[in-house]
Amino acid sequence: MLFQPPLPPKYSALTEEEMGQAILERKRVLGSRLVILGHHYQQDEVIRFADFTGDSLKLSQIGAQQKDAEFIVFCGVHFMAESADILTDDRVKVILPDLSAGCSMADMAEIEQVEEAWDFLTDACPEPRRDCGVTVIPITYVNSAASIKAFCGGHGGACCTSSNARKVLEWAFTQGGKVMFLPDQHLGRNTAYGMGIPLDRMVIYDPKLPRGGLTAPIRTPSASAGPKPSDRNVRDAKVILWKGHCSVHGLFTEAQCDEIRRLDPECRILVHPECKWEVVQKADLAGSTEFIIRTVREAPPGSKWAIGTEIHLINRLVHEHPEQSIRSLAGIQCLCTTMYRIDMKHLLWCLDELVAGRVVNQIHVDPQTKRLALVALQRMLANVNPQPVAIK
Ligand code: 13P
Ligand code: SF4
Repeated sequence: MLFQPPLPPKYSALTEEEMGQAILERKRVLGSRLVILGHHYQQDEVIRFADFTGDSLKLSQIGAQQKDAEFIVFCGVHFMAESADILTDDRVKVILPDLSAGCSMADMAEIEQVEEAWDFLTDACPEPRRDCGVTVIPITYVNSAASIKAFCGGHGGACCTSSNARKVLEWAFTQGGKVMFLPDQHLGRNTAYGMGIPLDRMVIYDPKLPRGGLTAPIRTPSASAGPKPSDRNVRDAKVILWKGHCSVHGLFTEAQCDEIRRLDPECRILVHPECKWEVVQKADLAGSTEFIIRTVREAPPGSKWAIGTEIHLINRLVHEHPEQSIRSLAGIQCLCTTMYRIDMKHLLWCLDELVAGRVVNQIHVDPQTKRLALVALQRMLANVNPQPVAIK
């Protein structure tokens, strides 16, 4: 996690109303030089100042379209700001209002670990031939560091988001027989399962264990004496899932689904595919943040929902749809604490600095990483569904 120095004390003395007015004033002064992007998990006090809101995919698309702005202030987390920097011209400066707004899932895959995993996997699957289906294609969820995106771009792979993971996996299987999916095992498993790949054709690579905790097959010249089928056998696997997860969506459980069914059989369960496979199996519907929003928007009055995603989005849906009954699937508050670090104080501070001619908290990806990460992101943007689709 990057270190965010404390703000000057004057920001703590301001009321919410004073900060709100000051932010609007700075936006007016900066005019078209500034674009503020806001992810749906941002708190209301911040997202109301966003020029564009969206999930990771939509914000990447909007970021890539920003040709005129000089500054993009990204109200989201670090990997999103990196993606915006990769997708925009060098002229555009991307700013993250609080540098400590990281993502615990993204931190679960480090480039050295990925390189080590790659050496192991390519050694275990040594014949990269399409016809025998052993070419490994690395796919990374955008919730990953720029270096991991660059790794994927440089090794014939791509990025995906929860809005287009299936489409990207379909593309990947036209390139080779196996996919290494980083860093979210749940999005990878839920998507691949929804495509008809059975669980016993997926293995988990745990970067904390020697050789990922996987057993490489013993290679022999005789096919009949070849490796025995095993769920730990990387050669038999179609998808190698990195052992990473989202600490927010990981809080939803099967027991919560059972409780909702018991309390109200009419209530439908709608979850994000970062939730565990068991939870997705018990849910009625699963899909990305944009999919969740669209599903609720299009539902008739009187619909009842228990939603498994970040609490700020759920609360916003509750507020926007009084004609429906909406609650969180969990009794506890599933809050993304790093998204929550972006607050009005930090937003105002970075806008104040821009008005004074100083760029603070710029997120800058080095040119070499940027070049290859862009390849992975462009492959992702070439595989977009016209509308957000269900994973289940
Ligand atoms: P999406 O924005 O792709 O739905 O992902 C949710 C998330 O966890 C973002 O960090
Ligand atoms: Fe990361 Fe999960 Fe927060 Fe998204 S919700 S930023 S995946 S920790």
